[in-house]
Amino acid sequence: MHKIGLFYGTYTGITSMVAKKIADELGAENVDLHNICNDGEAMQNYQYLIIGTSTWSIGELQEDWDHFMPKLQTMDFTGKTVALFGTGDQVGYPDTFLDGMGMLYETFQYRGAKFVGFWPTTGYDFTSPLPLLDHDHFVGLAIDEDNQSELTDERIKEWCKLIRPAFNL
Ligand SMILES: Cc1cc2nc3c(=O)[nH]c(=O)nc-3n(C[C@H](O)[C@H](O)[C@H](O)COP(=O)(O)O)c2cc1C
Repeated sequence: MHKIGLFYGTYTGITSMVAKKIADELGAENVDLHNICNDGEAMQNYQYLIIGTSTWSIGELQEDWDHFMPKLQTMDFTGKTVALFGTGDQVGYPDTFLDGMGMLYETFQYRGAKFVGFWPTTGYDFTSPLPLLDHDHFVGLAIDEDNQSELTDERIKEWCKLIRPAFNL
C-alpha cells in the first residue's frame, strides 16, 4: 500500500491542526505529515498527496509555500493523485477567501497532478473566484476556523470519506 504524504504550510498553527485531524481521520499510520518549511522536496517520493495552505496578506500564499514555489515549479506530478485543503477567513477576506488553495491548484495542475476531493460551496459566503473549480465546488476542502469552527470536524470527516477510495483506503 502507498502511504499518503500530507504537506502543509501554516503561520499561526490552524492549518497544521487541520492537517493532524485529517491524518487522524484517515488513520495516522496511512499518512506522513510534513511541514513544507522542512522537507518539501520529499513530495516527490509519494504517489498520493494531500496539500494544505492558509492565505495571508490579503490573497497571498502562506509564506513557506511561497518560498517553496520556485522549487515546486520544477517538480513533476504527472500521474500523482492530489487532494487540496485550504484554511481562511470568509468574513474578513471574502474577496480573497482561500486564494492560496487556488494558487496551489493552478501550480499542481500545470505540473500534471490529478485532483480528487472537490468540495461543495454550500454553506459558505464569499466572492473570491480563485479557489473554485466551478460555480458549485471548491478545488479542495474549505475550512474557516475563524468563523465556522463548529463545522470543521464534520467537514473533515465528510471530506475524508470522499477522498478515501482515490487513496485506496
Ligand atoms: C493579516 C491577515 C490577512 C489574511 N488574509 C486572508 C486572505 O486573504 N484570505 C483568507 O481566506 N484568509 C486570510 N486570513 C485568515 C487566515 O488565512 C486564517 O486565519 C488561517 O486559518 C490561518 O491559518 P494558519 O495559522 O495555518 O496560517 C488572513 C488573516 C490575517 C490576520
